[in-house]
Amino acid sequence: MNLGNGITLIHGDALTTLPLIEAGSVDAVVTDPPYGETSLKWDRWPRGWLKLCLSLLKPSGSLWCFGSMRMFLDEVAEFEGWRFVQDVVWEKQNGSGLHNDRFRRVHEHACQFVPKAQVWADMFKAPVTTPDATARTVRRKARPAHWGAIGNEHVFTSEDGGPRLMRSVIAMRNMHGRAMHPTQKPEGIVEPLLRYSVPGGGLVLDPFAGSGTTLAVARSLGLRCIGIEANTKYVEVATNRLRGTLALGGAA
Ligand SMILES: C[S@@+](CC[C@H](N)C(=O)[O-])C[C@H]1O[C@@H](n2cnc3c(N)ncnc32)[C@H](O)[C@@H]1O
Repeated sequence: MNLGNGITLIHGDALTTLPLIEAGSVDAVVTDPPYGETSLKWDRWPRGWLKLCLSLLKPSGSLWCFGSMRMFLDEVAEFEGWRFVQDVVWEKQNGSGLHNDRFRRVHEHACQFVPKAQVWADMFKAPVTTPDATARTVRRKARPAHWGAIGNEHVFTSEDGGPRLMRSVIAMRNMHGRAMHPTQKPEGIVEPLLRYSVPGGGLVLDPFAGSGTTLAVARSLGLRCIGIEANTKYVEVATNRLRGTLALGGAA
């Protein structure tokens, strides 16, 4: 279904739909798969989807996958062919777990992977900043001794504040009470991932689109996006949501 401005939502199973996408066409896969941790009917890990995504990426492409540490460790074999490069922690204001015999989980991970053969220099990256550096900060960084000869000390001075690299722990309210989907991600946690990993006008793929959060953020950033969703109910939710979302610089 073409939702305009380069946004496409496909109603189907990711496992049968992914092979139909053009190989080497995708700048980044950004997705929130079923974690396999709840009793929700659709919450089953779709075995084999990661392998299908490998050939879809451009040589500079990468994959961001939301999940819990338990999910990543339980499914570690599924990540064969991928190399972990970094992670972001989403800190929520409260958790959703009902367990009273462990730490209350108020965070999730978004982990970035690249195909194993890809080197860091090849990966597209546009580091994201926040405009909150403390004014008059002076940092001195010397090369650690184990790096070999110690050169001149590098002095960094920020006299007037300004941008600094976005922190890897991002606090963001979850969608409780205003969600259209039981595991809906806030747009604010998806946005920095797209800004970081997709060049202007690039193509994002979300094989588990749910209520269409990745598609909505892609549209707001002027990116193209293909979403896949198996559940008829959520296809409808995402379609209505996208039909009401304004594109950057123009009406939808
Ligand atoms: C964790 S939710 C994604 C929620 C989404 N991030 C949002 O903000 O709304 C995962 C979604 O994957 C869908 N799903 C599960 N298995 C699928 C499959 N094999 N193919 C396509 N979609 C699937 C589920 O119906 C569910 O909506």
